[in-house]
This record gives sequence, structure tokens and C-alpha cells, in this order.
Amino acid sequence: MPTVKVTRRTFFLSATVLGTGLLAACTSSPDPIGNTSTPTTPSATETNGSGLLPQGDLYGVGIYNTQQVADELRYIEQNIQPLTGSDTKRVLITGSTGGIGQLAAAYFLRRGHRVVVHARNEQRAADVRRDLPGLEDVVIGDLLDLNQTRALAEHINGLGGFDVIIYNAGEYGLTGPEILNANSLSPYLLTALVSTPREQLMYLSSDLHLGGSLMLDEVRSGDGITYGDSKLHLAMIAAAAARRWPDIQVNAIAPGWIPTLMGFHNGNATTPDSLRDGYMTQVWLAESAEPGSDITGEFLFHRQVETRVNDFVHDTDAQEQLVAAYAERTGVAFS
Ligand SMILES: NC(=O)c1ccc[n+]([C@@H]2O[C@H](COP(=O)([O-])OP(=O)(O)OC[C@H]3O[C@@H](n4cnc5c(N)ncnc54)[C@H](OP(=O)(O)O)[C@@H]3O)[C@@H](O)[C@H]2O)c1
Repeated sequence: MPTVKVTRRTFFLSATVLGTGLLAACTSSPDPIGNTSTPTTPSATETNGSGLLPQGDLYGVGIYNTQQVADELRYIEQNIQPLTGSDTKRVLITGSTGGIGQLAAAYFLRRGHRVVVHARNEQRAADVRRDLPGLEDVVIGDLLDLNQTRALAEHINGLGGFDVIIYNAGEYGLTGPEILNANSLSPYLLTALVSTPREQLMYLSSDLHLGGSLMLDEVRSGDGITYGDSKLHLAMIAAAAARRWPDIQVNAIAPGWIPTLMGFHNGNATTPDSLRDGYMTQVWLAESAEPGSDITGEFLFHRQVETRVNDFVHDTDAQEQLVAAYAERTGVAFS
């Protein structure tokens, strides 16, 4: 039987940007885990002090995670060993109650790093406290609401400095103004307001940034943008931050099209890329001493510099126009 290879480029095609001529074949690397033995973490009925019960079974399959993410979380719990040296870091990840963010948080925890996760509300905080025992803290704020994002930044600063911050949270399939707030204005505000980490900043972008545009008028007015626009903006914020802070590493990352809830959002039955590769670039940047892992100001895909990037990403004039539009919209400068 012939094998049909679906690639992340196919996702790009099927999603929104037909006819751009930017498609190319790209090898996907399926990574079946198949490890579904009984978890050893606490029961679903434990509360977290807020009185809220976590939802569903451990890892929230069908509620906030796919079976594939739950299986990978079990794989991490059972197979990843702590670091032997003392090079542990303090890590903050936004949107870490499910999907890629939760996988990265789980991995860093198993390695012995101190991990602060971020939840949109108290319920999701209760879920993640149950799922990931040993977290240093959970910060709360819904990035759809810019006032909550500002309060979140203040709360994060009150916790003291971080070595690594990963701006991972993202919405898909909402209205233009909601996408603008959650995926573009909120990461901008957090970048501008949260104290710069000591070592690393990472931004979860997407292949779909290729079809994105600057949308300066829409940013200024709050009219709304597409998901692809927002993922371009994230990569541009990363590049602008990398220029401002040359002493740390700042990169944008495309995780591939992978089987989280977001990956299945449009009812697609399959996703072509490896779930594990979707978070291992973040781990590699934070932990590795390998040649090349000290990279900054780049757009990465699976630990490699992505060659197909939207021209706006590395256009410094465009970056500054976007930053100026953000400042006008939010009243917060990024100097
Ligand atoms: N999956 C893919 O194929 C793919 C491809 C390209 C890029 N990405 C990007 O990778 C990142 C992670 O995606 P994922 O696949 O892991 O998606 P996911 O499974 O839907 O997880 C997204 C995470 O972000 C949180 N979040 C979303 N909106 C939020 C808000 N308004 N306030 C606070 N938290 C919020 C979610 O919280 P709740 O659980 O409460 O919703 C969840 O923890 C996103 O930036 C996404 O755009 C994913």
C-alpha cells in the first residue's frame, strides 16, 4: 500500500494560506510512545487548597489534553532522569497547563529545575497542580484580558528572577481581536514588563507565520488579526528582544504540527510531526552545551535554524514599526 506522507507544510497549505508558493516537502518524524502504564502521581480527587477539584483523570485527556500528550507525560515521568550536576535553572512557561507547555514543564521538573507554570484561571491551576507535583509555583492570568496580563507580569516580577522564560501560550480559532490580545499583545506586554531572564527567552511561533502580515493598523485599533499574523508578530518580538538583550539568548520556535488539542483543532484526524520534537528544542536551548545551542535571534524548527521565514521576521524597521504600534495600543514602551 502506498504511504502518504503528510508534512507540516501540508498543514500550512490546508490551514489558511493557499497559493503562496511557499510549500516544500519536509520529512516528518513520527515518534510513537505506546507507554500507557498506570501513573504513579496523586489521585484526581486531591484539591490544591483553593477548594477546586482538578478536572477528569490525571492529565485531563479529552478535557485539556489529548491521549498522545498524556502518554508523553507518562513517558517523561517514567524515563527522564534528574541532572547530576548543579546546573539547575529557574524556568517560567506560559500556557503550561496542557500541550507543549505542560510537556516542557514536566520535562524540566523531572530534570530537577525549578518550574513556575502559568494557568488561565483557578480551575486550570488546580488541574496542573494535580498533574505536575513539585512545581515551585503557579501564576494565573487569562491572556485574552490585557488587564490580567498586566497583573500577571507584576505577579511574575514579585517572584524574583528567572533563568529561562518560555512564552508558549497560544489561542487558535477565536475571533481576530481575541487572537490579537492573547497571541500578540499579551506576549508583547509580558516581554516589556517582566524582568529580563538571566539566560534565555523563547517564543512559540508556527509555520503559519509565513502567511502573516504586519497589520499595524489592526494592532493600533484592536480590530483583530489572524493566527498567522500573530505567529509572525511573536517571531518579530523575539527578534526585537534579541537585539535589545544581546547578553542572553532569544529565539522563536516552530514546534511542528503535533497532536495536542490545538493540533486537532480543525477536526484533523492526524498530525504529521513528532510530539516530542515539539518541546525538545526548548529543552535543548535551555540545557545543552552542544555547539549551536548558544544561538540567538533566530527562528528554529526542531533544533535547526529554519530557512523559510517571513521576510518581516529579520526586518529591523518592520520590527520597530510593530513595537511602536504595540506601544500606541498598550501605552507600554519596549526600550
Ligand atoms: N500543536 C501544534 O500543532 C502547534 C503548531 C504550531 C504552533 N503551535 C504553538 O505552540 C504553542 C502551544 O500550543 P499547544 O499545541 O500546546 O496548544 P494547547 O494544547 O491548546 O495548549 C495551549 C496552552 O496555552 C494556554 N492558553 C491558551 N490561551 C490562553 C489564555 N488566553 N490565557 C492563558 N493561557 C492560555 C492553554 O490553557 P488552557 O488549557 O486553559 O486552554 C494551554 O495551557 C502555542 O503558542 C501554539 O500556537 C502549536
